[in-house]
Formats: sequence, C-alpha cells, structure tokens
Amino acid sequence: MAEFRLPKNSRLQKGGQTHKAEGATRVRKFKVYRYDPDKGENPHYDNFEIDLDKCGPMVLDALIKMKSEQDSTLTFRRSCREGICGSCSMNMNGKNGLACTTAIEDLKGDIRITPLPSMDVIKDLVPDFTHFYAQYASIEPWLKTKTTTPSGKERLQSPEEREKLDGLYECILCACCSTSCPSYWWNSDKFLGPAILLQAYRWLADSRDEMTGERLDELEDPFRLYRCHTIMNCSNACPKGLSPARAIAEIKKLEAERQV
Ligand code: SF4
Ligand code: F3S
Ligand code: FES
Repeated sequence: MAEFRLPKNSRLQKGGQTHKAEGATRVRKFKVYRYDPDKGENPHYDNFEIDLDKCGPMVLDALIKMKSEQDSTLTFRRSCREGICGSCSMNMNGKNGLACTTAIEDLKGDIRITPLPSMDVIKDLVPDFTHFYAQYASIEPWLKTKTTTPSGKERLQSPEEREKLDGLYECILCACCSTSCPSYWWNSDKFLGPAILLQAYRWLADSRDEMTGERLDELEDPFRLYRCHTIMNCSNACPKGLSPARAIAEIKKLEAERQV
C-alpha cells in the first residue's frame, strides 16, 4: 500500500519560489511543502537547489542550509540531530523518517519533503501533535502500583524481566508509524494507533507495574485497539527499527488469554 498521503489541510496550489544554488557543480533539488496559515493561501511547494559540496550529508543539514541561506521563513522542528528526540520526523520522497538520520544520497531524484501524512499542519513541515499527545496521556504512561514500595528499596527487576522492555523503551514518539497507518488516517479520533499502542504495551510488559488488568480493560475496545488490521506499514516506517505491529499483537494475545 502506498504510504504517501498529504497532510489534512492540503489543497495544493501551483506556483512557488525557486531558490537556485548559483555556481554549484553538485546540485540536488528539493521540493518542500510550504503552508503559512497567516497568509490565507493554500499550501504549495517551493523549490530549493542545494550545493552538496557545501552541505552536510543528511536531509536535516539541507533544510538547515535552506533556512539559513535561502529562506529564513522555512519552518521545521529539530533538536538533537542524533535520532534521539523524534522532533524532525517528516515525509521524504513518500516515506516517513527522521530528517537527521536520512542521508541525502539515499534518496533518488528530486527530493520531495512534506509534513507527516494526514496530520493537521501548523506551518510548513510542522504538524500538530496535540491529539497524538492527548492519546499518549490517555494510556497513563507511568509506573502504576497497588502495593507500597519496600521501605527504602527500589522496585527490582531481574535481567530477564528488564529484557522484556527491549524493543519498547527505545520509542522516541516521532509518530512515523502512526502517520503511515491507513487505519489511523481514517480513525485517528478513536483508534490509538501503533505508536501509542506500543507505549501501552511497554507498561503491560513491565514486571513492576501492578495495573495490568485495568490497563487491558481500557484498551479492550473495537476502536482503541482493534482498529489495527495488521497492515504492517507501522513496523516498516519506524526509524528506530521497532515493531509496533508486534507490540499490538502481544496486547491482543493478552486480551485473548484472559478470556479463557
Ligand atoms: Fe517513532 Fe518507532 Fe516510536 Fe513509532 S514506534 S513513534 S515510529 S520510534
Ligand atoms: Fe496500522 Fe500497523 Fe496495525 S500499520 S493496521 S497499526 S499493523
Ligand atoms: Fe532529534 Fe532528528 S533532530 S531526531
């Protein structure tokens, strides 16, 4: 299934500026989605030429160069430049990923950059994460217990129990997975989506958490959990190599096991 889908407020208009890389010998062309709500215009693409001999290797390096040398109004999120913070997630040539860990040379042809698919856009490449974060808060992503902590002691885990969090704790909440899931495109008002379900499983899998039953009660719903139809785009999209689809399957298994 094609992964690319434009953001929600996208009635694209033709036109847009072209920023040239005068005198450059190794040039890559970028088409970058532009949208400014204050202008009252539909979104469009601007073209940027980048001199590869004067630019770092990653897509984020190119965006920073565009902003600092060609158009200071270009707006995007970034922080760590190391694939850790999750803030530079966007769609590059039809695939979701992190701009700071995506090499320009790995992308073919003219490079088209848009915000994450199917999200409302605040400006240019900045999607609105309000609903995504509200869904994250709804799963109560913290350790919940009923018993008191052994006095003066931490709640311990064996190495085997701790290992069960591998493949889960590394999630940086970039939303590359959720915004590549067609079921989330169509039902994001009620379906939690792969990122939030992976986070939900992170607490179900934690041996120290004592609210497993209550957490499963909250998830057992035709929309919140069961709108996942195993399409698998999520696991293909994750820039951290995680598998939200596997985490969702584990939740479904826990739900089924307590029925018998
Ligand atoms: Fe991003 Fe992967 Fe976490 Fe999804 S599971 S939010 S793609 S890090
Ligand atoms: Fe969507 Fe992943 Fe399920 S793409 S339908 S959450 S397996
Ligand atoms: Fe932090 Fe890309 S800038 S993940």
